[in-house]
Amino acid sequence: MTIAIIGTGNMAKGLAGVFSKAGYSVTFGSRDAAKAHEAARELGGTVSGADITSAAGNSDIVVLAVPFEAAGDAIAAASGLEGKIVIDITNPLTADYSGLTIGHSTSAGEEIQKLAPRAKVVKAFNTIFASVLQAGGKVGDRPTTVFIAGDDQTAIDTVEAVASKSGFVPVQVGALSVSRYLEPVAGLNIQLGYMRGFGTDIAPTWQTAA
Ligand SMILES: NC(=O)c1ccc[n+]([C@@H]2O[C@H](COP(=O)([O-])OP(=O)(O)OC[C@H]3O[C@@H](n4cnc5c(N)ncnc54)[C@H](OP(=O)(O)O)[C@@H]3O)[C@@H](O)[C@H]2O)c1
Repeated sequence: MTIAIIGTGNMAKGLAGVFSKAGYSVTFGSRDAAKAHEAARELGGTVSGADITSAAGNSDIVVLAVPFEAAGDAIAAASGLEGKIVIDITNPLTADYSGLTIGHSTSAGEEIQKLAPRAKVVKAFNTIFASVLQAGGKVGDRPTTVFIAGDDQTAIDTVEAVASKSGFVPVQVGALSVSRYLEPVAGLNIQLGYMRGFGTDIAPTWQTAA
């Protein structure tokens, strides 16, 4: 299973680290291939770098680790992502993180599916801070929860298997439209982490009695 990560920022590096440690072949795709090579060199292991078109074209799964507003550009650079499993990690936040720019009747997940209609878009990892991923994906010694939403069950199961093998606790939450709930959860995580003093070594999970 090969994974392309579009972007070379904080989330891209965090996810590349946990996926490569789990044994996946990971390629950064950047607008500047030299930047992708440099990010790959920093991480070492099975990580490589390329331009966006070839990174996406040569991978089974493509992670969009770009700002929500840049998703259209990234999808265009990746030649539309036809048939690919696309993991959308974005949160459509205002510049000051005080709210979401879209919601209630749509979500970043659904808008990205519209931008890449032939891809199988799965929402995941949007509620985990990059710093938690860069520290290995755990909060303290506890594995973090990955909430997974999508409309294609095979794609959901594939992302669940990747998350599980990478040391996370996956929770399937339903259709891609459930991103309307997942994106505000990320907003609450930011509110607690940055505005309420919890810091960024936190992650939302769901408790059950059993
Ligand atoms: N940071 C977090 O803790 C966190 C947590 C959960 C979810 N998220 C979400 O994850 C996404 C990435 O966040 P981040 O913190 O990693 O951001 P970041 O550090 O700013 O990195 C974003 C990356 O997006 C790429 N990019 C920007 N504009 C682009 C364009 N027009 N076309 C193609 N690529 C473009 C850039 O890569 P190149 O310059 O190499 O092309 C850049 O490195 C965001 O949607 C954010 O909401 C972030």
